[in-house]
Amino acid sequence: MKILGFSGSLRKGSFNTLALRAAQKLAPAGMEIAIADISQIPLYNDDVRAAGEPAAVTALKAQVRAADAVLIVTPEYNFSIPGVLKNTLDWLSRPPEPPFDGKVVGITGASPGQVGTARVQYHLRQVMVFMNAFVVNKPEVFINHCAGKFNEQGELTDEATAKVISELLVAMQKLKTRVG
Ligand SMILES: Cc1cc2nc3c(=O)[nH]c(=O)nc-3n(C[C@H](O)[C@H](O)[C@H](O)COP(=O)(O)O)c2cc1C
Repeated sequence: MKILGFSGSLRKGSFNTLALRAAQKLAPAGMEIAIADISQIPLYNDDVRAAGEPAAVTALKAQVRAADAVLIVTPEYNFSIPGVLKNTLDWLSRPPEPPFDGKVVGITGASPGQVGTARVQYHLRQVMVFMNAFVVNKPEVFINHCAGKFNEQGELTDEATAKVISELLVAMQKLKTRVG
């Protein structure tokens, strides 16, 4: 099973990108997780789209289409979806052939706060309804107090978080089997 991972943060030291890398290591047998580069996606402009979809968008759409499922790992910005991620999803939601249609999606995120991205995850679920994706409902994975859960090498050291990320990946496998 091929998963395409999105980090909602472009920051080099991003905890969310670290969590995505941790998921790569935690992938069960038969699962591969690649990481999408969303840093080259332009700001959404429907005039630009009408004149011809930007190459970076076309390439990312193809990557999503080729994946069996998508894993989104995102910070929470002002209680919601970071602009870079929302902008990317906006491009991917537009014709031709919006690739999230019918796609299995797993959502998690890391933040230094208490609720560990709960609010952005709920907003992302709403966006995924419009994009007609199938989002895994359980387990919910909120990586709170994230700075204490990774070591200096950027590796995930918190066992409880590793366990629940593994469970999320298995749930994505199961949902994919169910929706085809
Ligand atoms: C513009 C902005 C808004 C933020 N808003 C929130 C927020 O609403 N909730 C929260 O828990 N953290 C918030 N934070 C803190 C981020 O969770 C924190 O910077 C986190 O480390 C970002 O993820 P990253 O390490 O993957 O870059 C905000 C940070 C920025 C830059």
